[in-house]
Parts: sequence; C-alpha cells; structure tokens
Amino acid sequence: MLLEVNHLKTDFKLKKGIVHAVNDVSFGIEKGEILAIVGESGSGKSVTSLSVMGLLQEPGKVVDGEILYKGEDLLKKSEKELQKIRGDQISMIFQEPMTSLNPVYRIKDQIIESIMTHMKLSRKEALARTVEMLKTVGIPSPGQRANDYPHQMSGGMRQRVMIAMALACNPELLIADEPTTALDVTIQAQILELLYSLRERFNMAVLLITHDLGVVAEAADRVIVMYCGQIMEEADVKSLFSNPMHPYTLGLLNSIPRIEDESGERLYMIKGMVPNPLHMPQGCPFSDRCDRCMERCTLEMPELKEVGGHKVRCFLYNQEAGKEADDR
Ligand SMILES: Nc1ncnc2c1ncn2[C@@H]1O[C@H](COP(=O)(O)OP(=O)(O)OP(=O)(O)O)[C@@H](O)[C@H]1O
Ligand code: SF4
Ligand SMILES: [Mg+2]
Repeated sequence: MLLEVNHLKTDFKLKKGIVHAVNDVSFGIEKGEILAIVGESGSGKSVTSLSVMGLLQEPGKVVDGEILYKGEDLLKKSEKELQKIRGDQISMIFQEPMTSLNPVYRIKDQIIESIMTHMKLSRKEALARTVEMLKTVGIPSPGQRANDYPHQMSGGMRQRVMIAMALACNPELLIADEPTTALDVTIQAQILELLYSLRERFNMAVLLITHDLGVVAEAADRVIVMYCGQIMEEADVKSLFSNPMHPYTLGLLNSIPRIEDESGERLYMIKGMVPNPLHMPQGCPFSDRCDRCMERCTLEMPELKEVGGHKVRCFLYNQEAGKEADDR
C-alpha cells in the first residue's frame, strides 16, 4: 500500500464549538491506483487531502489517526521532512489554480523553481524539463507559452500548467482537488484523459477529489463517498454505479444530469441541506434527508461495514457483517 490513512480525525476548534471536519476516516491507495473521494460541499474532501499533505491551516488540526506513506507516519515528520516528501513524492493540485500560480512570475520561472528545489538539475536542464512537462500536459507551442504570465492563459491552460507543475518532479502520488470543476465539459474531459494517461505512463497513484460523479465514472478505479466528514460507502467504480447501496450514494447518482433525459422534468435533488457542522443530527448524519430513515437511524450511528464487496454505513444493511437487512 502506497498511502494508508487510519482513523483520521481533523477538527476545527471555533469559538462556537468544534467542527469534526474529518471524523474517523480510513482508506488506502495502491501504487498506480486512482481513488476518488466524492461528496457534496462541506463533506470534508479538501480537509482530508490537506491533512495528508500536512498543509492544514489554523484552526484546523489533526487530532487522531495515522497517515502512513510507504509505511511511515507523516504525522510524525518534521515540517522540513514533509517539505521534501511534498516536493519529491506527493504533489497536489489545489482547488483554486489561481491561488497556487503567482501572477507576477512567468509560468516557466515558477515551474523551474519548483524543479530546482527538488531535483538536482541545472537551470538549463530545469528549463528543458519544464518545456517537456508543458508538452506532456498538452500545451501547444510549449517553448513559447512557457514565457506567458498566468493571466495570459485560459482557465483550461492554467489548469494544465498546475498539473505540469505538480508532475514536474515525478510524484508517486498526486492529490488532485477538484481539478476540473472550473472548466467547461470538453476541457474537463481532456484533463481527465490526461490524468488517466499520465497514470498509465508513470504508474502514478491519484487521489481524485470531486463532487461530480460523472468525473468519477470516467477516471477512477475505486470510490469513497463522503458525507459530513465520514465515509458512507466505498466500492470499486463499476460496482458503485451498478449496485449503489447507501441512500446518499443513490441520491447523488440520481442527481446526475442525463443527456437522454429530455422529459423536461426537474432533475432529482436530495431533499434538505447538508447539516450545520456545529449542529449535527443525532444518529446517522444523513437521517434528516434520507427517504428511508427509520427510528433507529435518529438514535444510533451506523458503523461502516463490509457488505457484498462494498463498505457501507447504513442500518438498511445488517450491521452484523456480510448480511443485508432487507431484500431490496
Ligand atoms: N478554515 C476553516 N475554518 C472552519 N471550518 C472549516 C475550515 N475549513 C473547512 N472547515 C469545515 O470543514 C468541513 C469540511 O470542509 P472541506 O473544505 O473539506 O469540504 P469539501 O468537501 O472540500 O467541500 P467543497 O466541495 O466545497 O470543496 C466543512 O464543514 C467546513 O465548514
Ligand atoms: S442509516 Fe438510516 S438514515 Fe442513515 S442512510 Fe441508512 S436508512 Fe438512511
Ligand atoms: Mg474542497
């Protein structure tokens, strides 16, 4: 296992109370695997990835768990050791591309700097590698475009630059937080295609974070569905789409627009809203929005259990391992 996250808990201690943004989350990623984390806004996707990268900002704090990268706990590393790992082995594409590109420097200077910090290359070699990476991510005339400033590029091109920068030092794990959200559908598909081909070429593992199940279907091997800081369901992609088990997963799947759907009916939406993290419902976090909520759901928290090849956190499935409670 390349990355193994065990019982991760990340809190935000606020004046009004404590937000459990990531609440006992465990998962693993194998070498070369694309694992997607999907869920609505506020489910804890970004906080999970920032926790792994050691880039949480105050008042966010990992309060429990371990994050094993090649067997070593990143939570026990010094900032200096983490910086080295972040450049050499784990890279991240952030949710907001403009926040990670510096508007006053040319693209090439930003990538060269990142390469020279982490690889023993001369400036000339680093420039050659920069142009090569820009070419790899599909930027036309890369030698010329390397001289651009970020604002001279379209959103899709900037996203490619971000990916080039993240890949410049050959990471073994790429964490991509909503890498395509701001882009139009055609460019979105191209970027996903690119991530997929880079994984094939470099055997790089990807933690792909998105709220879009369409993206998951296209790119991932395995999926984790998160809600309110917890894993609700985990399965391989085929199985999740052909046999979704958790009511929240079903809700997300039914909310995907379909091209063939010309009935003019309004798209299904999961009723209600994500609860205020400071006022979580008692019992199952999804209970106040779930069509199948039972009395027990409002009192007790279901556990994440193995059921039919998935992991599911729901009382509809027998909380004794391996058996379904109802015969849907
Ligand atoms: N700086 C912060 N201060 C207080 N609470 C925060 C902070 N950052 C995140 N949170 C809380 O942590 C929870 C998870 O947030 P996170 O950003 O991980 O969500 P997300 O799944 O990435 O959502 P999105 O799809 O909008 O990016 C939310 O309830 C949010 O309110
Ligand atoms: S445990 Fe109950 S409320 Fe929660 S998802 Fe399952 S059926 Fe719905
Ligand atoms: Mg986010």
